[in-house]
Amino acid sequence: MRVLGFLLLCLGLVEGKHLELDQAVFVPEDWLHAGRVAPREEMELTFALKQQNVDRLQNLLQLVSDPDSQQYGKFMTLEEVASLVRPSQLTEKAVWTWLKGHGIQNCHTVLTRDFLQCTMTAQVAETLLPGTEFHRYKKGDQTLMRSSSQYSVHEDVSDHLDFVGGVLRFPMGSKEIGKAWTGPGQSEKAFHLGVTPSTIRARYNLTASDTGHAANNSQAVAQFLEQYYHPADLAEFMSIFARGFNHMTEVERVVGTQEEGKAGLEASLDVEYIMSTGANISTWVFTNPGRHETQEPFLQWMLLLSNMSAVPWVHTISYGDDEDSLSTAYMNRINVEFMKAGLRGISMLFASGDSGAGCLHLAKENVFRPSFPASSPYVTTVGGTTFKNPFKVTYEVTHYISGGGFSNVFAMPDYQVDAVSAYLKGAQSLPPQSYFNHSGRAYPDMAALSDNYWVVTNLVPIPWISGTSASTPVVGGILSLINDQRFLKGLPSLGFLNPRLYKLKGTGLFDVTEECHLGCLDEKVEGQGFCAASSWDPVTGWGTPNYPALLAALIQD
Ligand SMILES: *[C@@H]1O[C@H](CO)[C@@H](O)[C@H](O)[C@H]1NC(C)=O
Ligand SMILES: *[C@@H]1O[C@H](CO)[C@@H](O)[C@H](O)[C@H]1NC(C)=O
Ligand SMILES: *[C@@H]1O[C@H](CO)[C@@H](O)[C@H](O)[C@H]1NC(C)=O
Ligand SMILES: *[C@@H]1O[C@H](CO)[C@@H](O)[C@H](O)[C@H]1NC(C)=O
Ligand SMILES: *[C@@H]1O[C@H](CO)[C@@H](O)[C@H](O)[C@H]1NC(C)=O
Repeated sequence: MRVLGFLLLCLGLVEGKHLELDQAVFVPEDWLHAGRVAPREEMELTFALKQQNVDRLQNLLQLVSDPDSQQYGKFMTLEEVASLVRPSQLTEKAVWTWLKGHGIQNCHTVLTRDFLQCTMTAQVAETLLPGTEFHRYKKGDQTLMRSSSQYSVHEDVSDHLDFVGGVLRFPMGSKEIGKAWTGPGQSEKAFHLGVTPSTIRARYNLTASDTGHAANNSQAVAQFLEQYYHPADLAEFMSIFARGFNHMTEVERVVGTQEEGKAGLEASLDVEYIMSTGANISTWVFTNPGRHETQEPFLQWMLLLSNMSAVPWVHTISYGDDEDSLSTAYMNRINVEFMKAGLRGISMLFASGDSGAGCLHLAKENVFRPSFPASSPYVTTVGGTTFKNPFKVTYEVTHYISGGGFSNVFAMPDYQVDAVSAYLKGAQSLPPQSYFNHSGRAYPDMAALSDNYWVVTNLVPIPWISGTSASTPVVGGILSLINDQRFLKGLPSLGFLNPRLYKLKGTGLFDVTEECHLGCLDEKVEGQGFCAASSWDPVTGWGTPNYPALLAALIQD
């Protein structure tokens, strides 16, 4: 036994330390293997350096986001955030010594100095990260380099790094969110008008003058698939659908590579609806920044936010991954990045997903399957609804696809404990306890219509577009309108909304109380997840925005 223990120890030393042993190592089925990466080929890896003062960051975020705190709205600049979290000299030195020891010189850092992005050959990468073997994978005309096996790092740096990006994770998202695009569903046998900007504006009580006026207001959508919005589609959409209110017809700024080619439905949807809800507000598109075969597009966006002093106040993102496919180290670090954004007064809105409660088939039984970043305690997550009567702008009920549930990784944040406990106590019919973790962060926080949208893509108006990808930019546009009114009064932006949202206890929102979303298709739950109820619920959150009432509730202080 002793000898065996010794051997294992030696192996441990040779192999180094794992940073993300719980990261799933698998190739998503739509990516095809395209051979080993040659030793001389160049690649780029991202090193997430351990930050300082993460606890303080968390406390500060709490203070600036809690309307009852003296510090409410006292946001920091990126430079101030940087001085708080930047890695210690010891950390920087350890990581640089390690990289230089492998001949790696070509690195770029960010303003907060907590990420390093370095180029090296595949051969160097495989020696730097024992255990790795880099391969190329193809999907359509996209190619990627990823390791087919786990990586480790030298023990001298294992305490100084959170994770290494560009090694294991495939780009998130095409599967988790964006499923509900398959044209008319069973419930829509008859043709009806569908959702357009005027439907949204009528339902959420936006008048013609509820548009942006403030000089420095801005909002953004971030996109990570190989999808692009087309300026001509946006212009066409606005000319057909956005009548009777003032709006912009062009995106203010595209950050990243905006390529030619077919427009993506998702990309068109995001831009068209944030710009017709948050009308006349300057809009940015973050798109697949600077593609390299080893980059992780989502992570790349996080780096950009830490490298740009001035970014929009509201960001909406329609992508997600199964929580169980990501390492805890990675998700914890992404949460810190969200905290950094919140501390700067930025609101991060994520789509809750299009698979209801989701389903993970385990050997013995099924459990629901939460999605990340929807399950992050540091973002505002948006679910979906549909009209009770699809022929009229009436009240909303749950859209069965609306993502929602409980995180298995993140504990329930204080701001939602009362709301979630009340739901769990009062719910008429809950799924069996074994399907979800009632102590986890519960989502979504809010919702909006997510069914039967009209979108213009490749110059053609297309109906029946559905998904929480639609509701998220709508809520984003509404928060931007509220920011706008706040700016005109000299108040700061809303920043991380949840602590304040949960204190409103539903004021300013239309409560959604009917119908259930999808769950596992098994005998125990028979395809059903959670059901909407009065007040907060894990299907539609607190409900959908009634703009004038929500504005009234969020315009003081
Ligand atoms: C961050 O911005 C600086 C200044 O523009 C640039 O030199 C650097 O390469 C950027 N970092 C990354 C990782 O792109
Ligand atoms: C907003 O819309 C609802 C339902 O459409 C309506 O009952 C209400 O009176 C409207 N106005 C305000 C200010 O809430
Ligand atoms: C549109 O927004 C700009 C600020 O970006 C403002 O100056 C202008 O007055 C707004 N237009 C209308 C019609 O409100
Ligand atoms: C708008 O932004 C510019 C540049 O960041 C700044 O100089 C100006 O003071 C801002 N204006 C307002 C009204 O906040
Ligand atoms: C339930 O969630 C908590 C965090 O809130 C976590 O510590 C625990 O491991 C989770 N349980 C399961 C079975 O996933």
